[in-house]
Amino acid sequence: MNALVLKTDTFQLENVITPTPQSNQALVKIHYAALNHRDQWIRDGQYAKIQLPAILGSDACGEVIAVAEQNNNHWIGKNVVINPNIDWGNNLHFQQKEYQILGMPSQGTLAEYIVVNIDRLCEKPNYLLDEQAAALPLAGMTAYNALFNKGNVQKHTNVLISGVGGGVAQFAFLFAIAVGANVFVTSSKQAVIDECKKLGAQDGANYTEKDAIKNMAKANGGFDVIIDSACGDGMNELIATLKPTGKFVFYGATRGLPKDLNMRAIFWNHLQLLGSTMGSDTDFKNMIALCNEYQIIPIIDKVFEFDKAVAAFDRMKDGNQFGKIIVKIQ
Ligand SMILES: NC(=O)c1ccc[n+]([C@@H]2O[C@H](COP(=O)([O-])OP(=O)(O)OC[C@H]3O[C@@H](n4cnc5c(N)ncnc54)[C@H](OP(=O)(O)O)[C@@H]3O)[C@@H](O)[C@H]2O)c1
Repeated sequence: MNALVLKTDTFQLENVITPTPQSNQALVKIHYAALNHRDQWIRDGQYAKIQLPAILGSDACGEVIAVAEQNNNHWIGKNVVINPNIDWGNNLHFQQKEYQILGMPSQGTLAEYIVVNIDRLCEKPNYLLDEQAAALPLAGMTAYNALFNKGNVQKHTNVLISGVGGGVAQFAFLFAIAVGANVFVTSSKQAVIDECKKLGAQDGANYTEKDAIKNMAKANGGFDVIIDSACGDGMNELIATLKPTGKFVFYGATRGLPKDLNMRAIFWNHLQLLGSTMGSDTDFKNMIALCNEYQIIPIIDKVFEFDKAVAAFDRMKDGNQFGKIIVKIQ
């Protein structure tokens, strides 16, 4: 099979051995894969415990073409998405030590075929195209956990989704709109803000403009919850827009660590800083159910052909996307 193999810092489309399903496993022919920033961090050497060579990719939509045991034959021919959790463990709130994310060190989805455990298969939501369904797994689950379990976002919650152009953030935005929250966004791009307003955002601010977020918060009584993946020196500005007892939920640190954090503002206003990572298998199921219930259509930035997959990574690196970057595998 063809696979995109990462060696030190270069990718090569290579012919590698097609894996064979072992006990309790299925072979999936991958139609579409999606990128996550994790893949780009690994490419850049900025991720923990990198093992190379590696076939990256945590998301896929494809068709089950073989299973190891006859009693799993009912999966054959089904279109599926794959739960990217490997060994989350039994605790709903945090992952066990052995936890891994699909794609490095295990083989990822930027390949024509993948073998996964049967319990990682999930029927593709019928209302979605394959390329839309491929966008769901990692980013959808991360957004779900941050928004609902950590942020407790519900109807009428004032929630700010920062950097809404990102793959996870656009899901947090769509999910929050679906449940009837009052949704505000930030982005570096006016076109993204305008599009979010068309999709139901109450207002938006460009985070590169001084005081834009502060003014938006002031005009709307502040935020109950902020969902963020940038952190860095922007954190104090965001925290200052929370109402008393507000929650700052973060699942990434794209801008790095803050040089200083306004601890007084945090304790005086009874604010909560809540870290969030991926989600349990239950979160994955609940996220898919939520998508089916509200017929969530992921925002797709662009679909790249498999032989242009490196250009897909470059697009993510440049940060010009709005939504998920997809690779058409076969
Ligand atoms: N902990 C977890 O389980 C988990 C899971 C998924 C992702 N993550 C992390 O979360 C981050 C985002 O991941 P992703 O896959 O969604 O990446 P992505 O699709 O590449 O999105 C990155 C987005 O970050 C936004 N951004 C950049 N600088 C910003 C700033 N100063 N303030 C606010 N937003 C800013 C940009 O939004 P605009 O385009 O709107 O400006 C950009 O589109 C990464 O750091 C990733 O490693 C963590």
